[in-house]
Amino acid sequence: MEKFNASISYDKTMWKQDIKGSIAYTTALYKADLLSEDEHRTLLNGLQSIEKEWSNDSFIIQPADEDIHTANERRLKELVGDVGGKVHTGRSRNDQVATDMKLWLKDHIMNITPHLIQLIQVLVNRGEREQTILMPGYTHLQRAQPIRWSHWLLSHAWPIVSDLERLKSLYHRINTCPLGSGALAGNPFNIDRAALSQHLGFTHTTNNSLHAVSDRDFVAEYLFWSSLVSLHLSRLAEDLTLFSSREFGFVQLSDAYATGSSLMPQKKNPDSFELIRGKAGTLTGNLCGFLMVMKGLPSTYNKDLQEDKVKMFETASTLMGILQVAAGAVHTLKVDEKACLRALSEEMLATDIAYYLVKKGMPFRGAHGLAGEVTRLSEQLGVPFSNIPLQQLTKISSLFTEDVSTIWNFEHSVEQYKAKGGTALCSVNSQITDARTFIKNF
Ligand code: ARG
Repeated sequence: MEKFNASISYDKTMWKQDIKGSIAYTTALYKADLLSEDEHRTLLNGLQSIEKEWSNDSFIIQPADEDIHTANERRLKELVGDVGGKVHTGRSRNDQVATDMKLWLKDHIMNITPHLIQLIQVLVNRGEREQTILMPGYTHLQRAQPIRWSHWLLSHAWPIVSDLERLKSLYHRINTCPLGSGALAGNPFNIDRAALSQHLGFTHTTNNSLHAVSDRDFVAEYLFWSSLVSLHLSRLAEDLTLFSSREFGFVQLSDAYATGSSLMPQKKNPDSFELIRGKAGTLTGNLCGFLMVMKGLPSTYNKDLQEDKVKMFETASTLMGILQVAAGAVHTLKVDEKACLRALSEEMLATDIAYYLVKKGMPFRGAHGLAGEVTRLSEQLGVPFSNIPLQQLTKISSLFTEDVSTIWNFEHSVEQYKAKGGTALCSVNSQITDARTFIKNF
């Protein structure tokens, strides 16, 4: 049971936050006249010594240390004697653990934010350098319309921009301090909770002690947020896995982010992207697993809640890896401009035929039908659009004239999409400016 009950093996991750919480709580007790000046100083010195032990790796976990809270308190008593028992006055591990977790998650958010920004930067910088490369755009994985490679790159930056916005609002919701809620009923010693919250860097204080000790919405939200980020990167990874296959051949991974096969000497496998895709599954599993833990719990603290940290820590470190590998793999891959261009075929200009007729005054529905006829004709004749004689086109519509030759051109095609968000050069450039402005102001 002792082994089953213990969480020290993973919640020791929060040693720093646990000590920070105890230091602030000790000061709150002192201000509420529950500690003498001497006791206050003694406890703070003890807590600082424990902090040093953790940071220089000399803290020794004892077999009876159930979790990080009991371990630190046990050590405090060893260092300062009986007075160490005063630090827990009116406090419970229930408000303590909720506080530690929020402090930890806030620190983690600060650490992970630059990695999200870096990934956006990698995509934006490549997008800026490689604007002239054209490639097929797909829907249903079928060749649809020509696009700029930059436009594709940037399409994977914008979800991360939204992820950062979501993270910011999540940070705000985490910023409410539960310490001073006790086990469930509140704090009987009239400590100044607002000052305590402020001391710990929280902007708000929880309003209801029963809620405060059981609230794990911030964990659920973080796990959902991480799953969503990982799904965004899974999509990027899936595209690039396909693009790196011989059949597409658009990109080549750098050796650092690919592996060989132990059996087939010619293989270069996109393991980085496959693992990103796979780990996105693991993170989504963590979210679902956690929601199952929460389902059916009665009010206030229940030991089931100890499972929250397993998911939170695993997700956090996995996501960190995903972000770093994604940035490195995308930064170092090579794009094959010629292969991208070779994959473009004239049938992808069928929409452009319809637009050509629209620009000559025809309603789009009719133009779409006639463009379909041109497509069939090209198939019947076994020639690309540009080789269909003009007389044949004029039989389909008298609106076709000499200038139709201008549309048999992929560059011309992408340059039509000048409205905001499109694949024309000017729209791609303004995306780059907007993404950079976002980063600068974040
Ligand atoms: N290790 C526990 C957890 O992670 C700390 C809280 C324990 N509280 C209790 N009343 N047993 O949730």
